Amino acid sequence: MKIDIAYFTSTGNTLWLAQRARDLMGAEGHAVRLFDPVAQPGGFANDADLLGILYPVWASTLPDPLQALVQALPRGEGRRLFLLGNCAIFTGDTGMHWKRRIEPRGYDVFFVDHLLMPINVNVPGFNFWPVPPPEEVRAILGRADEKLAEVCAAILSGERRVDGTDLASWLGGASQRALYWTAALWKRAYAVAADRCTRCSLCVRMCPIENITMGDSGYPRFGDRCIICLKCYNLCPVDAVLIGRSSRDTARYRRYKGPAPDIKPVLYR
Ligand SMILES: Cc1cc2nc3c(=O)[nH]c(=O)nc-3n(C[C@H](O)[C@H](O)[C@H](O)COP(=O)(O)O)c2cc1C
Repeated sequence: MKIDIAYFTSTGNTLWLAQRARDLMGAEGHAVRLFDPVAQPGGFANDADLLGILYPVWASTLPDPLQALVQALPRGEGRRLFLLGNCAIFTGDTGMHWKRRIEPRGYDVFFVDHLLMPINVNVPGFNFWPVPPPEEVRAILGRADEKLAEVCAAILSGERRVDGTDLASWLGGASQRALYWTAALWKRAYAVAADRCTRCSLCVRMCPIENITMGDSGYPRFGDRCIICLKCYNLCPVDAVLIGRSSRDTARYRRYKGPAPDIKPVLYR
């Protein structure tokens, strides 16, 4: 089978899962293409037999670039599509929410599930779940790896599975989506710690929506289109990107540096 998987990653968890899914499905003799729609617009290949979307859960919904991919989907003519999310704590009804939006376009969304991965949100006002230390990250990845093997086998066998269909998932998901606007307050609090910033411009190259530019001062400047992926905040090599002054304290507001050293930040320019 030709399998086409779209993914978006901020801090690498989804890319880590996508690469493992490609290896697992590849080992069964399938040809798997991974693509990030920000870097490779154009959507799914017309000749793919099976489509997938791998996504990090953002307040019980999809990251903006994957929402855009879904919104631009052509008529599916019954093509089979799976949704595989990953979150740190709670996914709610994310998959169901998007299954309901994808199916009217003529796709058979036969499989919806999610995996647990390390958290990448630890900002002032929202630091209830600290970024786990390396040994805990390894344990979480080990469990995710086990579940991913089971999930890939189930997808390949054509099993029908949909998680997040119960009322509690819907209530939790709907309230998270309704409250998501509060995260928009974070983007007003972006600043650069000039005493740390090396002006390497990595944040500019990592930003998926070209919202960061090098200002006249030679330091990064943030525009007003941020989608709050927190990539610049987490992956700045010297933790110079701040969300509020108190996030200078990197012991308290630990950045998540990704699942493994071989998963490098995705650069867009
Ligand atoms: C804006 C934003 C919102 C998030 N919302 C949730 C959430 O609702 N539930 C959850 O468990 N994790 C949430 N997370 C954590 C991520 O889903 C999780 O850490 C994921 O594995 C990150 O994947 P990535 O490294 O591929 O970006 C959120 C992360 C971000 C950046």
